[in-house]
Amino acid sequence: LKIGVLASGNGSNLQAIIDQVETGVIQARIACVIANKSDAFALERAKRHGIPAFFLDHRAFAGREAYDAAVVETLRGYGVRLVVLAGFMRIITPVLLEAFPLSIMNIHPALLPAFPGLHAQRQALQYGAKISGCTVHFVDEGTDTGPIVIQAAVPVMGNDTEETLAARIQVEEHRIYPQAVRLFAEGRLQVVGRKVTITDVIS
Ligand code: GRF
Repeated sequence: LKIGVLASGNGSNLQAIIDQVETGVIQARIACVIANKSDAFALERAKRHGIPAFFLDHRAFAGREAYDAAVVETLRGYGVRLVVLAGFMRIITPVLLEAFPLSIMNIHPALLPAFPGLHAQRQALQYGAKISGCTVHFVDEGTDTGPIVIQAAVPVMGNDTEETLAARIQVEEHRIYPQAVRLFAEGRLQVVGRKVTITDVIS
């Protein structure tokens, strides 16, 4: 399986997936990494591991569709079959969605359907939630609305800031995102309607 990763920032989730690919836990290859920010550390991480890394500047395109068409072209050029959004801070259009049906994953730092959209940790703190976490889901046309693959919960502490809560959630992100990618690579994710079933390995 060839994976394409889209990122905008640090890329710690990308790193977690790279690590499990390199140890052979995930039987797949990260074929390319695309970032829409030239200074995204995710690009640096890719280069360090010999993964083709591209800065695609969204400001150089006429609109979201034109940008996504360039993303699709790059991904197709590398034979990508699974697209992993890892901190990619852009709304994606049907151009990308329709090119990779049920083959785009995202991780969101809350227990969906609670707290979708931006600043999920801040939303959880402001709401007074006592438990939050993260969700890996397939991407559909909505914002953080697609079929849920895996979730993990963490407690919210009374003295949490956005940063301390985000850090606690990230530990779980780095655990469940590679796990979801692995299940996809093993052909074990079955999607019916909005429900994802994890099937057993048939031997
Ligand atoms: C993560 O918190 C993820 O939940 C959100 O963006 C952040 C990306 O972090 N979608 P990183 O770039 O993988 O370190």
